[in-house]
Amino acid sequence: MYEPRHAEIIEGLTRTPARISPKYFYDERGSKLFEAITQLPEYYPTRTEHAILEQSGPEIARAIGSGCTLIEPGAGSCAKAAVLCGLIAPRCFVGVDISADYLSEAVQRLGARFPAMDARALGGDITRGIHLPDDLPAAPRLVFYPGSSIGNFDPPSALALLRQMRALARDDGGLLIGIDLPKDVAVLEAAYDDAQGVTAQFNRNVLAHLNRLIGSDFETDDWRHRAFFNPEESRIEMHLEACVPVDVHWPGGARAFAMGERIHTENSYKYSLDRFCDLLAQAGFARARAWQDARGWFAVVHAQP
Ligand code: TRP
Repeated sequence: MYEPRHAEIIEGLTRTPARISPKYFYDERGSKLFEAITQLPEYYPTRTEHAILEQSGPEIARAIGSGCTLIEPGAGSCAKAAVLCGLIAPRCFVGVDISADYLSEAVQRLGARFPAMDARALGGDITRGIHLPDDLPAAPRLVFYPGSSIGNFDPPSALALLRQMRALARDDGGLLIGIDLPKDVAVLEAAYDDAQGVTAQFNRNVLAHLNRLIGSDFETDDWRHRAFFNPEESRIEMHLEACVPVDVHWPGGARAFAMGERIHTENSYKYSLDRFCDLLAQAGFARARAWQDARGWFAVVHAQP
């Protein structure tokens, strides 16, 4: 009954300020809500990144070259990989994801669309280090990390992750990564606090998920979604704020929250290109070339050792 992740969740709930790891956002409902977020009018990153890949696709493809082994951590539905595969015709694709069942269906569909490509699914978590199959072609490797997911790690963890990717790419490969750039605060905050309240539902849903995981009794209606830009840290912070005094119980413990007290659920760091290139250099990627949209809101960066 008592699992290690229970201990981790309870440790986060009992500290001050309390926190919940963003990995618990993604139960079935959370994954659907996240899908809906990416289509909201206020949520510009997904469509802006896509537009950059469309507009600058031929140039990006020339920079990368064809016939590589493409590795995508967190590949999920492989929707973005499909766009990139259309541009760079990889010889081999390795999709990596924690949820391997969902992934293998998506990889099968991708393989059917690109029959000349050897498409593989690998269950695993890049933050813990992944072991690639040893029968991959001897082609240069490209690690693909779209969606500005790197921004959801604090800078030291982001650096550690970029170092893992540097190791995966070896000396003849590279990294293609999406980053969300600093911009007008109103635009940033609207992207994480939309008018329809989908992001609010997504944030509150983590409590329902915890209730199932650890047997807690959170009432999601007691909590309001808060998302704001923290300029000192250059990050969007997401919190859940108690609208009333709340007592939460779970088997073996409890926590009282005052009205207005918050639980920190996620950060999304916004790096300038300069700062991000510093981080890349520290991770062993000395060369970088970036493509942006006309407004300079998002960048797709090709980094090489
Ligand atoms: N990495 C993306 C971002 O930070 C997507 C994302 C992760 C997200 N968690 C989120 C978007 C929570 C909205 C809310 O923007």
